[in-house]
Amino acid sequence: MGNPLFAKKPMSLLTEESRESGEHTLKRTLGPVSLTALGIGAIIGAGIFVLSGLGTQYAGPGLMLSFVLSGLGCAFAGLCYAEFAAMIPLAGSAYTYAYATLGELFAWIIGWDLTLEYAMGASTVSSGWSNYFIKFMHVFKVDIPLWLAYDHWTALHTAEKAVAREMARVTDPTLIEGSRAFVDKVDSIVAAKSPELLQRAHDMINAPHIFGIEIGFNLVAFCIALLITVILVIGIKESARFNATIVAIKVSVVLFVIVVGFKYVNTSNWGHDWASFAPMGFAGISAGAAYIFFAYIGFDAVSTTAQEANNPQRDLPIGIIASLLVCTVFYILVAAVLTGMVPWKEVNVEAPIAQAFLDNGLTKSSFLITAGALAGLTSVMLVMLLGQTRVLYAMAKDGLLPPKFFAAIHPKYRTPYKNTILVGFLAAIVGSLTPIEDIGKMVNIGTLLAFVIVSTAVLVLRKTNPGQPRPFRTPLVPLVPILGILFNGYMMYYLGAINWLRLIVWLLIGLVIYFTYSRKHSRVNSLKQ
Ligand code: ALA
Repeated sequence: MGNPLFAKKPMSLLTEESRESGEHTLKRTLGPVSLTALGIGAIIGAGIFVLSGLGTQYAGPGLMLSFVLSGLGCAFAGLCYAEFAAMIPLAGSAYTYAYATLGELFAWIIGWDLTLEYAMGASTVSSGWSNYFIKFMHVFKVDIPLWLAYDHWTALHTAEKAVAREMARVTDPTLIEGSRAFVDKVDSIVAAKSPELLQRAHDMINAPHIFGIEIGFNLVAFCIALLITVILVIGIKESARFNATIVAIKVSVVLFVIVVGFKYVNTSNWGHDWASFAPMGFAGISAGAAYIFFAYIGFDAVSTTAQEANNPQRDLPIGIIASLLVCTVFYILVAAVLTGMVPWKEVNVEAPIAQAFLDNGLTKSSFLITAGALAGLTSVMLVMLLGQTRVLYAMAKDGLLPPKFFAAIHPKYRTPYKNTILVGFLAAIVGSLTPIEDIGKMVNIGTLLAFVIVSTAVLVLRKTNPGQPRPFRTPLVPLVPILGILFNGYMMYYLGAINWLRLIVWLLIGLVIYFTYSRKHSRVNSLKQ
């Protein structure tokens, strides 16, 4: 029956499995409001609290438009996700949808690709968590040594900037600190990389060496990722109340930033014409969009709760679209505040929002934001690592990964502990050794690819499977899926050749595993023989 590469998982088997795993006992308690809250809880995190700072370095005050661009791409993909989520309302993810509709090879590619979204996403957030934790501890006069606060490259860059600032002060005492001229001077000193600058930066890090190489290890990121892993191994019942509390904290912090921050906006920081609003033109805004796309990742979490929704066919699309819409509005406003409070060149790249408030003398507010961000980032990490272990568990149950390891359940805690420990450890290592910018871009390109595939899948399935019941239909097909492909593909383009190369290598490794292991052990294929 057809090519085994495109074998589809029968709906009957999916339903049966969901019964076996006891998921049919989940109570249907979630309505459109709680689903939207759940989405917001999974979405707001390191993207807005941390990466917005780096986004400004590409887009300038035009970051507001970057959020619009990126939000549109997500909305088109979100409408396509919603069609799948309603068509196959079982707990799962794009991996499950793909297996039921597109066949095994695509399911594998999406499942493998999703590790970039979930596991590497957790690494990115752990690194961002560390930035805010450093700020938090600084208030109590505790400073973590540079080599234990950052990965090697970021530690070196941070030290270079600190030395350059001092050199700028000495060489030109007339420059006002914080002024644009001062920032330009610092940038030019860093760019020149004089032997004195480099030597003093190395001295500042003062790191131990292994085989002659200076160590940089983000200990905080490592520890927080491991802590979350332990929580996941022990197993927490993520209660609706706990989630609601975290969402309330996050939303309050964001509203606080918008309302209080607006009073400190200096509109001249937004620029007076297009060239000063978008210093690197539309290309800069697009690169910014590709970068802060991370801030939107997570809305697909709504679709994983299909079995707990009162009326999944109606409420899942509402949850996905409403949470995206709310976050888009928040993000545009936060971007306006951030780039209005501080000239774009001076926006801090580690903890931009907390620092913007500090720069304006708002010490207490900054502390509040830092504490709220820490709570918010923790919950995002939890959702991401949990999502990753579920996808791997599902893949192992299907025989695509060794079930003895990836589907092994702890006798006492009833959690997939081996897979959780492996994922948590890898996420911790990556988060502690890699610059946040690099991991973030890798996460983005992987997730954007998943969005392009899901958008394409809607188009393909409308042709190949027109009769399948679709309780929610993506509107304006083919326009919306095509726009989903174009917008998300466009952002992929702006992530640059090196990230494409990394993505291709990652996918090739995945294909090698598929053809050497998964295809031979696939449960669906063995059922057919
Ligand atoms: N959107 C999530 C965040 O920004 C992943 O942390």
